[in-house]
Amino acid sequence: MTAGDNKYIAKTFFGLEDILAEELRQIGAEDIRTVKRAVLFSGDQFTMYRANYELRTALRILKPIGEFEAHNADQLYKRAKRFNWGNYMDVDGTFSIDAVANSQIFHHAQFAGLRVKDAIVDHFRERYDRRPNVKLDHQDMLLNVHINDRKVRLSLDSSGDSLHKRGYRLAAAEAPLNEVLAAGILLMSGWTGDRPLVDPMCGSGTILIEAAMLAARQAPQKYREWFGFMSWKDFDEQLWRKVKRESKEREQEIAISIEGSDISNNNLRAAQENIRRAKMDRYIRLRLKNFFSYKRPPSPPATLISNPPYGERLKEDDIFGFYKQIGDTLKQNFTEYDAWIFSAKREALKHVGLKTSKRIPLFNGPIECRLHKYELY
Ligand SMILES: C[S@@+](CC[C@H](N)C(=O)[O-])C[C@H]1O[C@@H](n2cnc3c(N)ncnc32)[C@H](O)[C@@H]1O
Repeated sequence: MTAGDNKYIAKTFFGLEDILAEELRQIGAEDIRTVKRAVLFSGDQFTMYRANYELRTALRILKPIGEFEAHNADQLYKRAKRFNWGNYMDVDGTFSIDAVANSQIFHHAQFAGLRVKDAIVDHFRERYDRRPNVKLDHQDMLLNVHINDRKVRLSLDSSGDSLHKRGYRLAAAEAPLNEVLAAGILLMSGWTGDRPLVDPMCGSGTILIEAAMLAARQAPQKYREWFGFMSWKDFDEQLWRKVKRESKEREQEIAISIEGSDISNNNLRAAQENIRRAKMDRYIRLRLKNFFSYKRPPSPPATLISNPPYGERLKEDDIFGFYKQIGDTLKQNFTEYDAWIFSAKREALKHVGLKTSKRIPLFNGPIECRLHKYELY
């Protein structure tokens, strides 16, 4: 063990940092500090396993193993080669590199990643006359190389793959919302499963499924089978089982209704399939329905959260008219609701025509979006 062994970086989307920090607090992480698109924390192995299994708004949990400066690719290679890679994987193991660079020296992250790959291969070859192989998934070590100007940080990726892959989505509809973003929107809305929830343009059902898991206090990764740390040399299977067992003990039944609807039969079929895979069918009701003729939603107090079309298929005039109709429908049929509308079409949101009580900027990958809250009277 060296100092810093218990330090981690939880990555997330821009705008979700504070929500993620709160989630980390709840699982017992310490020294929590938010930075752009990430939250730093410390914790033991148990906390790291819990972070991977239970955090709804983390994309990856990285474990930094070293930092150094490199002024050119040669230095990057030499310094990376000096690491004691045998601590993390065997010569007959497999690995892969994820490189991100924001640097005047290293313009191409992929090239920097290749130099580090060479360093690891040569490190082993000089000692064993053999080399480990590169494998793009389920590898023994996924190494994250982060370069900021000339500062290089190497981290092990304990998740092994993005945590938005919960294991329930197979069927995709058009423009599905990222699972991490859907969970973030739910947590931001303050909805905890204590009142009905409606998503009247539910597409493939991401908001509904994340909501059901949240209300049931079910770990978002309950059905994911593989995490990077499972291939690590120090993987503690008993401790991992304890994480899953204790999480299961916290689960609860859902007493409120969660309703989804959509105008497209195809999208509803995708939602149905995803909901079935997430084993949430008994909690979520789906209906084929045009939002604009939505009558008799569950009695308030209740929450509506939805992610309407961005207008990929609609002309600009139509999309503005569409958002105006969303506003009219909310006003007429969703009295006393808290409504949250998430859209990448910020211009269109202006046409909803209702007073917003919150406007939250969020990023869906590189796309700047807005989450608006309307309190309807
Ligand atoms: C951006 S997608 C929602 C994606 C969804 N959040 C997901 O994760 O898959 C917008 C959805 O609105 C639906 N839609 C469009 N017009 C509608 C209307 N008038 N009433 C109900 N649904 C509508 C589309 O069929 C589409 O599934």
